[in-house]
Amino acid sequence: MKLWGGRFNQPIGKDAWELNKSITFDQRMAPQDVRGSMAWAQALRSAGVLTPQEWEQITGGLQAIQKEFEDAVFSFIESDEDIHTAVERRLGELIGPLAGKLHTGRSRNDQVATDFRLWLLEHLPILDSALASLQSALVERAEAHPDVILPGYTHLQRAQPILLSHWWLSHFWPLQRDRERLLELQNRTAVLPLGCGALAGTPFAIDRTALAEDLGFLSPAPNSLDAVSDRDFAVEFLFCVALIGVHLSKLAEAVILYSSAEFGFFELSDAYTTGSSLMPQKKNPDVFELVRGKSGTLLGNLIGLLATLKALPSTYDKDLQEDKLPVFNGFDTLMAILPVLANALETLTIHPDTMKKCIDASMMATDLADYLVAKGVPFREAHALVGQAVQAAVQHQTGLDQLSQSEYQSIHKAFENDVYTVFDPVESIARRSALGGTAPEAVKEQIQAAHCAMQVLQ
Ligand code: ARG
Repeated sequence: MKLWGGRFNQPIGKDAWELNKSITFDQRMAPQDVRGSMAWAQALRSAGVLTPQEWEQITGGLQAIQKEFEDAVFSFIESDEDIHTAVERRLGELIGPLAGKLHTGRSRNDQVATDFRLWLLEHLPILDSALASLQSALVERAEAHPDVILPGYTHLQRAQPILLSHWWLSHFWPLQRDRERLLELQNRTAVLPLGCGALAGTPFAIDRTALAEDLGFLSPAPNSLDAVSDRDFAVEFLFCVALIGVHLSKLAEAVILYSSAEFGFFELSDAYTTGSSLMPQKKNPDVFELVRGKSGTLLGNLIGLLATLKALPSTYDKDLQEDKLPVFNGFDTLMAILPVLANALETLTIHPDTMKKCIDASMMATDLADYLVAKGVPFREAHALVGQAVQAAVQHQTGLDQLSQSEYQSIHKAFENDVYTVFDPVESIARRSALGGTAPEAVKEQIQAAHCAMQVLQ
């Protein structure tokens, strides 16, 4: 017998039942469903709907169910449509017809929205600490080799020399913003739908503010129609997840490139690479490719839910049942990749000599222009003059540092014989010492700031 079977003469078709039920995936919210029901029972008691004795019996039954879930001995049966019906069915088995009083003034519409929010509120901190661990791995890498120089790229063309530490940290800060976003999301998730009934509100004297407090929510949702249909928190979560995916994918892409033979900057550990079934020499960066690949699925989860929501006509519609799988998938995917990624980064080997060999004098062309600026030449003019020097170097098939003194002089008198000092990449890096720059002292400060930033979120 279905919970809602009263008005039907025929049983639901087996195929329709299979399509309709959500127990296969929403049983994951069992602890939250029981918690929500306990709070609801308390609210019903305060409203005078349940006597203290009835409340005690119902609560005792729910506690027993909670224990069954904890001990993984709760058994689902074929007629359990979703987690809400399963818990209510079991309560009836344990305490008899009194179980039927628990759903007074409540609908599965406000119930499911509450369970889902509770689930997310409990899982946000887990995701946060996985992100924090990856951040720690990045900071450790940044601290480990403070002097290593890496060619910095824009448009994937050699641009300016940078510290490798600075590069590692460039992947730390996006994760910090991700964590801040997840933290802010907690506030918008902690708005309670329970007590809104199916759509119009509940006719019983439920103190929704007390109910919200009891469940650790910040406030009750202010509009019952909105409360049962609002899945903004799920969309926002999926956006956060998708953006985390994008951040991880960018990092993965760079590591894949830098560990190719053509770059040769990194070598991945055997423990985080795979081989080829055909080509014996291959060592493939599958972990990083999967991070990059899965970020596409994470993006799809966000777009999928937005598309599900966009034309819903009113309050609760069954389409909303589609909200859970993308959210669970997003969480599970990140929890699967974040620790592996941290380990893979921790164990990769760096090749500073190869990085250094890729630094050529042209990467100090900006320094050369700045050299002229220091001698009073306006930057725009200096840029054009250095452009001439670059052209001369290309013509002679040589480096900017190999052009003769007279050649420089013929371009501009301000190029004096100290001009060759600008081609030292160490000096070039040291000059960029303003806050946020790549100079060793600025990076040192940045590492301090990274530690502080992480602490603030703890
Ligand atoms: N399984 C449903 C869901 O996940 C629960 C709410 C069902 N509500 C209803 N009116 N059929 O959305």
